[in-house]
Parts: sequence; structure tokens; C-alpha cells
Amino acid sequence: MAMAPSSKPAKTTPHILLLPYPAQGHVNPFLRLAKAQHARGFHVTFVHTEHNHGRLLRSRGLGAVTGAADGFRFETIPDGLPRSEHDATQDIWALCEATRRACPAHLRELVERLGRTEGVPPVTCVIADGAMGFAVHAAKDMGLPAYLFFTPSACGFLCYLNFDQLVKRGYVPFKDESCFTNGYLDTPVDWITGMISNLRLRDFPTFIRTTDADDVMLTINIKQCELDAPAADGILLNTYDDLERAALDAIRERLPNTFVVGPLGPEVSPPSYLPFLTSSLWKEDGRCIAWLDAQAADGSVMYVNFGSITVMTRDQMVEFARGLADAGSPFLWVVRPDMVRDGGDDDGKVPVPDGFAEEVAGRGLMVGWCDQEAVLGHRATGGFLSHCGWNSTLESLCAGVPMLCWPFFSEQVTNCRYACEEWGVGVQMPREAGRGKVEAAVRELMGDGDKAVAMRRKAAEWKEKAVRAVAAGGSSQRDLERLVDEIAHVKG
Ligand code: UDX
Repeated sequence: MAMAPSSKPAKTTPHILLLPYPAQGHVNPFLRLAKAQHARGFHVTFVHTEHNHGRLLRSRGLGAVTGAADGFRFETIPDGLPRSEHDATQDIWALCEATRRACPAHLRELVERLGRTEGVPPVTCVIADGAMGFAVHAAKDMGLPAYLFFTPSACGFLCYLNFDQLVKRGYVPFKDESCFTNGYLDTPVDWITGMISNLRLRDFPTFIRTTDADDVMLTINIKQCELDAPAADGILLNTYDDLERAALDAIRERLPNTFVVGPLGPEVSPPSYLPFLTSSLWKEDGRCIAWLDAQAADGSVMYVNFGSITVMTRDQMVEFARGLADAGSPFLWVVRPDMVRDGGDDDGKVPVPDGFAEEVAGRGLMVGWCDQEAVLGHRATGGFLSHCGWNSTLESLCAGVPMLCWPFFSEQVTNCRYACEEWGVGVQMPREAGRGKVEAAVRELMGDGDKAVAMRRKAAEWKEKAVRAVAAGGSSQRDLERLVDEIAHVKG
């Protein structure tokens, strides 16, 4: 793929405006997509919310969001949340509501302002997050083509596409609170073409777990699939055909102009391309790679990271800590400062149990945030205890690293089911994973038993297939070129 940045923007240079949902797991794949498009000669405007722009400035310094690159600009819009609510980083419900209300008008103003800006070609296309589906209608009102990028897995997205069916067939909303505990979640759902046949209600994105027919997240997700996605000119997914063929075939039946462009990782957007444009909302701890370098044995380190939204109780944290310490493998554990409820503060200190850091000194490193792709790609990393966020799952597959799965919410439960049942790279941990279970699971994953060896072999196969998908002539590379070609020829 050509990696020459676009030359001086001409009036006719196609100009893509990218609008991710303002959360880490969305901003990351969007930035990778943006770089891939910039590398192909497009003018790119990447839109952050004002709040995240501020966080990026704090976490990475100015270069992260304002570094100069010909034809690559960052702009900001307000997310609509009152300032007092911004610290509630986990409140995706409030953020979804606020962005839907506030952002369409700001988006319109931004497109108009860019159209009046000297030296900037007019916006010719909008690529918005599936979770910002309103942008499709705002773009259409302005006469612009609009694409929706759904950042979850294809299996997760296919579940969302069937939320309306779950409602029509009477599975959702749940009859009453007892459904959360009485085995109702184990109800088989075997009628969705493209999904594994042993799917259960509990494997659906957790937004179906409500007794309220008007539940905000249930309603928003149905609307995104029923109204927003069909109105878009095309749908983008960050996965690859070999991994999710059946789900993708079913999605293409419903949404024929679907582009499968993943994994949007280092192969598509090498870290060396515009390296100063980064998207970590937390400050990365620079000690991780040197610590991994110092580990003598390849594949010996258990990497633990629950992503950007997961929260846990102090008790859960203590059980993980004890289990990890007792398992004996070296471990690198990322604990966000805001991960433990009533736990940390925002000064980057990791909220660990008293005395724990001293106890594991030398064989355990705990940090507040890391460069995850670099950690997963390191020769010393051998296992990943993960919440199964889609980016983490994909990054783990691409690095050939098997997983222990502890899903938290959303389609993480679907990803977990697929990782364990379909892709053969994961072992599910119980929700209340006591120290003994954690220790046993880590020992099994990092050991040489048949199951661990088979998972490592499967992970290596998925890695190879991922590399093939994005290489010249690969399925994702072809779809990326098709997208580029389609966008280059649309009339703004
Ligand atoms: C969640 C969902 O699980 C995801 O599937 C959904 O589509 C969006 O919301 P999140 O908790 O952010 O996402 O997890 P994940 O999707 O794995 O994304 C986290 C991203 O942050 C990954 O790209 C990961 O590499 C990066 N990260 C995480 C770091 O760079 N450093 C860290 O320490 C932790």
C-alpha cells in the first residue's frame, strides 16, 4: 500500500470527515482507518469531542492531536454532556443520549466551516461511528454520502441486527427481575442465520438485559440497525472474512454494501506512519516494554488488561491479585486509575491491595495504561486475561496470543463465546472468579497441557490468516481499496 502522504490539498482532493464515538475502543480503530485513508491521498478531518481532545492533550502532549501532517487535521465538537458529568467515564448511557442530542447541529456547523476554510477542500464524505448513527441523516441533509463504521465484531453486530427479532418474538424485554438469575439467560437462540447454533440469550450484547421496553440502550441499538444502517451508503466492519465468514455473509444479505477492512492494526496502519498521531486517552507507562525485554523466556508473561470501560469491586480486584500471585507466572497487569470502584484517583496511581506490589516485586509489573499492541506483540507475552472488548480480542488474535475471558458488558459476552467456542483461543472465567479459579486458569493457559497447546496453535493460525487478509490481494485489502475507490468517485 502506498504510504506517501497526500500532497498539498487541491480543491478536488476527496475530503473524508471521520466521527468516532468518544470512547477508547472506538477512537482507536477510527484513527487507524483515518491513517490508511490519508496514506491513499485523501484529505482527512478527524473529529474528537472537546472533552477527549483535552484528555489527549494531557495523556500524550500536543503532538497527539495537533501534530502537523499535510492534509490530516483534527477538529472538535462538544459532546453535549454537562461538565460535571464528565468524570463519570463509564456512563456510556448518558454519553449516547447527549451525543445524539447535541452533535448533529455541531457536525453541520463544522462541515460548513470547513467548506469556508482557505486551503481546505470541501468535505466530500462522512464516515461516522455506528454508535453515532444520527450523523448519516445529518450528512444526507447536507447532500453528503455517509458511511457507518460499526466497531464491534461481526458476530456482535449480527446480534444487534437481531435485537428487533428478540423483541418481536417475546424474549425481550425480560418478564421480571427473576430472569437475571433463574436460568432464563441460558435460553437457546438457534434461529439466527450466520450465528453459531449453540448461542444463548446470555451471549447477546448485554443491552437486552432489561425489563423496560423503552430502555435507552435497547431502543438506541434497535434504531441504529433499523433506521441508521440502511440509510448509510455503506457499512464498515473491523474484522476479516476468514474469521467471521458466516456472520459476514448474513450481514451482507441485509446490508449489501458492507466493507470488511480489518484487522485495522499495524499491518494496515504501521506505527511508523504519522507516529505522532496517537489516540490513547490515558498516559502510557513507558516501563512495560523494557520490563518485557528483561523476561528471559518467550511466551512466559501473563498480560492482564480489562480495557477502557470495565470497572470492578475491590473484592474482585483482590481475588485477581491473589490468583495471579499464586499462579507463579510473571505478569504485567494494567489497572486503570478509575477501574476499581471506590478505588483509585486520577493521579495515575494503581489501586492495588496493601503490600501487594512489594510481594510481587520482580515478577509482576502493575501500571495504569500501556501500549497494548506493543505488549501483545512482544515475544515474552504468552497469555492475555481480557474483558474481550473487540479491539483487544482482535489485537490478541493478530498477535497469536490465547486468552482468558472475563467479559464485562456489551458485545464482549458475544466475543467471549466466539473466542471460546468457535475460534478455539479462549477459556471463559466465571463472573465471580475467586483466587483459586484465577490461579488454576492462569496455570492452565500458561502451561503445556493439551488444551493450552491447542489454543496456542489456533491463535497462531488466526494471526497468519489476519496477516493474509490485509496483505496485497487479501480480502480486507481488496475491500479497503473498493471503499477508497468508491469514496474517491463520489461527488460531494
Ligand atoms: C468496549 C467494547 O468492548 C468494544 O467491543 C466495543 O466495541 C467498544 O467498547 P473497550 O473497553 O474500550 O471497548 O475495549 P477494547 O475494544 O478492547 O478497546 C480498548 C483499546 O484500548 C484497544 O485498542 C487497546 O489496544 C487499547 N488499550 C487498552 C491500550 O492501548 N492500552 C491499555 O492499557 C488498554
